[in-house]
Amino acid sequence: MDAMVTDNMKIFHTIAGVREVLRERRRQGQSVAFVPTMGNLHEGHLQLVRLAREHAEVVVVSIFVNPLQFGLNEDWEQYPRTFEDDARKLEEEGCDFLFSPDEGEIYPNGMADQTRVVVPTMTDILCGASRPGHFEGVTTVVSKLLHIVQPDKAIFGVKDFQQLAVIRRMVEDLCIPVDIIGADIARASDGLALSSRNSYLSEDERARAVILYQALCWCRDEITQGDRDFTALEAATGEKLEKGGFTTDYVSIRNARNLEPAAHDDREIAILGAMYASGARLIDNVTLSLTPTEAED
Ligand code: PAF
Repeated sequence: MDAMVTDNMKIFHTIAGVREVLRERRRQGQSVAFVPTMGNLHEGHLQLVRLAREHAEVVVVSIFVNPLQFGLNEDWEQYPRTFEDDARKLEEEGCDFLFSPDEGEIYPNGMADQTRVVVPTMTDILCGASRPGHFEGVTTVVSKLLHIVQPDKAIFGVKDFQQLAVIRRMVEDLCIPVDIIGADIARASDGLALSSRNSYLSEDERARAVILYQALCWCRDEITQGDRDFTALEAATGEKLEKGGFTTDYVSIRNARNLEPAAHDDREIAILGAMYASGARLIDNVTLSLTPTEAED
């Protein structure tokens, strides 16, 4: 057994170890909620853990910086690894089991030969267009983690809106017996969405980065007030990011359910944005629900 026991939390590095302890808990009739992460935990992750606690008797968190979801020129090596600190925070939040496998445990046959899970079409757009292969890496590792932990519920942040939609589709298409729960975006006091990658921002960029949220909110307000020229609104929102000193990757107004470009009579709308700072790519989104009359305007 590979468990390292802190006062209230057990840490496992092997699949066999975490499976054994969870088998026993399920045998006792306890429900399991699972929060997959890549570590470097901030308040946003801790909110996911609290939500997990509301949903089940046993809370499992995983920390695995998944190489399969990083592109060749991306930040896999640089990604902050803060295991001791993360474990302490999780224990304070009342996490029961921390699963922290290494690469050999998750990809024993190597990454090149790993069976892949691909959700087509909706992964080629938005973040998928800028990060080819990213979502294939996410769905592959998340399906493995769900098979290892076999939770009743799994919690993901709404900040990664497209990731959440892709995971919901994967779970539905592959009949994986788990409820996927989306957790609200945790924001800093100025409105910037919390992200591990915010630590890559210079002090000056950090002070200006809230423009992403502000511009998306501006766009949302325009739609609420009746503007339906989505193409012009996307362009105007992108210009706000550029004026703020960032490079716009995309701003896109979408149907919140299927991520298709929003139609004028859609009621559930998501406005998604991504922009580049000097050392980081930041994403955010806002959603709005229009009443039938508003949608027809
Ligand atoms: O959102 C993340 O942190 C990662 O994409 C996830 C879901 C843990 C998979 O590696």
